[in-house]
Amino acid sequence: MKQYLFIQDIDSLSTWVEEAKEIKKNPLQHKSLGKNKTLGLFFFNNSLRTRLSTQKAAMNLGMDIMVMNFGSEGWAIEFGDGTIMNQGTSEHIKEAAQVVSQYCDIVAIRAFAELEDREKDEAELVLQGFRKYATVPIVNMESSTGHPLQALADAITLAENNKKTKPKVVLSWAPHPKALPHAVANSFVEMMHRQEVDFVITHPKGYELNPKITRDSKIEYDQTKACKDADFVYVKNWSNYTDYGKVTTQDSHWMMTEEKLGNAKFMHCLPVRRNVVVEDAILDGGQSLVIEQANNRTYSAQIVLKKILETL
Ligand code: CP
Repeated sequence: MKQYLFIQDIDSLSTWVEEAKEIKKNPLQHKSLGKNKTLGLFFFNNSLRTRLSTQKAAMNLGMDIMVMNFGSEGWAIEFGDGTIMNQGTSEHIKEAAQVVSQYCDIVAIRAFAELEDREKDEAELVLQGFRKYATVPIVNMESSTGHPLQALADAITLAENNKKTKPKVVLSWAPHPKALPHAVANSFVEMMHRQEVDFVITHPKGYELNPKITRDSKIEYDQTKACKDADFVYVKNWSNYTDYGKVTTQDSHWMMTEEKLGNAKFMHCLPVRRNVVVEDAILDGGQSLVIEQANNRTYSAQIVLKKILETL
């Protein structure tokens, strides 16, 4: 495998999930695969889980790791072609991507949506810039429109906890004081399209995700109705997609409660704002899978890195 940018880069989801579960039983079984190979982790935004789980995965594979906070420590990068660089940017992506390729065998990038210009975010300037000009494989650690490492960890978590042939899975919007990107929700929707599930999305009217991603997904505007008899409820805030990047409601009635959750398992990618997105009782109770999801981030990253290393 030459890249892991989007869910579409997974050739056989069921095989990957089974392989990840096998790796989880003995995480050091491929320790020699990454010997003398270097992974570069480049962050334009903050992270806890992605940074540490991807490092852990690389260590399990015997790789060396270099981490850099590009956003705060690197030169401001120019992405435009033919730009006269006499303003704020100091280094062009053409050089930056080729330079990091001299030091790393695999490069992983985190670059969130700016949530100001939808067209610009959907062009994925940073991720696509590295993909175009780097000479080594690229991994997406959350871009403007997708978080495929998270979605793969979520698929592993679902597989480990599912007891039915076709479980009911709900993706529920929840309130949040800040404008958040659509990446996690997008990738989860795409992942559900590849699973044998009864999938329902619930959110306030006007908070529809990109219709090119949701396609023919069931949408239910009544959150209680959507969650009825669910087996898994994945809660996530996203900002308005139509009124792009705006917080047009913070309706606290959409916070996930034990009553709405019923007997379902609770999922969230973290970080999560307690008693805004979800009440304490759920996170502190036995139905929450959030720590399992965070644990599976290691095996999601490890299966991706392993598949790339096997082609180097
Ligand atoms: N879920 C997730 O990507 O967490 P971080 O932002 O902490 O990496």
